[in-house]
Amino acid sequence: MRNNPLPRLDASAEVRGELLPHCRLQPGEVWIDRASGHRVGCLDATDPQSIAKIMDDERAQLAIHDPPYNTAALERRTIAEFVAWCCKWVSHTYSSLANDASLYVWMGADQNNGFQPLPDFLLMMRDHPFQTRSFITMRNQRGYGTQKNWMAVRQELLYYTKGKPAFNVDAEYTDIPKILRGYYKRVNGKMSENLERSRSNTIRAGNVWVDIQQVFYRMEENISGCYAQKPLKCIDRIIRASSLPGDLVIDFFSHSGTTLLASEMQNRKCFTIDIDPIYAEITIRRLEHFRATGRKGWQNGHPFETDLAGTRRDEARVPQETVQESLL
Ligand SMILES: C[S@@+](CC[C@H](N)C(=O)[O-])C[C@H]1O[C@@H](n2cnc3c(N)ncnc32)[C@H](O)[C@@H]1O
Repeated sequence: MRNNPLPRLDASAEVRGELLPHCRLQPGEVWIDRASGHRVGCLDATDPQSIAKIMDDERAQLAIHDPPYNTAALERRTIAEFVAWCCKWVSHTYSSLANDASLYVWMGADQNNGFQPLPDFLLMMRDHPFQTRSFITMRNQRGYGTQKNWMAVRQELLYYTKGKPAFNVDAEYTDIPKILRGYYKRVNGKMSENLERSRSNTIRAGNVWVDIQQVFYRMEENISGCYAQKPLKCIDRIIRASSLPGDLVIDFFSHSGTTLLASEMQNRKCFTIDIDPIYAEITIRRLEHFRATGRKGWQNGHPFETDLAGTRRDEARVPQETVQESLL
């Protein structure tokens, strides 16, 4: 099987140089989708003019943000600097949301380097007029870590609200069957157990999500070159629970364009931005690729294949992940 991945783009200056001429957005520019009204901007989440440009006086019902933290491309920041940076885009998010709206924030950590910003972020959020609603943990299949620490397998997702947005409880049933009996209760004089009383044969997601497959190179939705892609399934769950068809969803850290694609699939409109022209381009291409082929990503390929055809980058190579696995 031919396999043609891109390397991690934030850490590969050479490949970035090859891809940039193929990106349609320059910093400060916005692409508008004529079919569904989505927008993709190459913009800075902390800059008020950037946010005014992408929002253009519209207000969203849902924000889903997945900010980067101390990645290879970013200069290392202290927790205080990181949280001060977060404070800016949280503030812009509040003013971009409708009176009744929801905010979800993925809050990562780098336990190998002792970077754990969660408590500081939670405290900072108390200075903003959002109501705190839940603290979800998503479990990863494969973790990272050393032999001298607990392997890191969790991703934290914080849920906040502004006003009183709807929460669609039916949307967050999983496909995990109910198997445990119990919780006996007398109903109309007859003793019953939970499976008889329940509205569904499957369990609700709750705030620990163990049923979501982490994206890896063999999955159709994989976007090689992206180092922080979230699975479509978790973004889809958020969108269905906290918005309605036709609503506007915003994401200020687009990367592989997962929120845009999930919004398209659920008939929501999405405005999304990324400061990096390459990720803004990948976001647009992922939508176009889905519309043209029905595929959610580029398993065994990548978004710039046509542009780089015939170049050294297009040569068939062993996938990085295969090499890593064989070294384990
Ligand atoms: C963790 S990734 C988001 C992953 C995304 N949820 C997905 O599923 O693909 C963070 C992204 O934020 C972008 N970014 C970093 N600083 C930014 C800023 N100030 N404004 C907008 N985007 C930024 C990075 O280029 C990166 O693509």
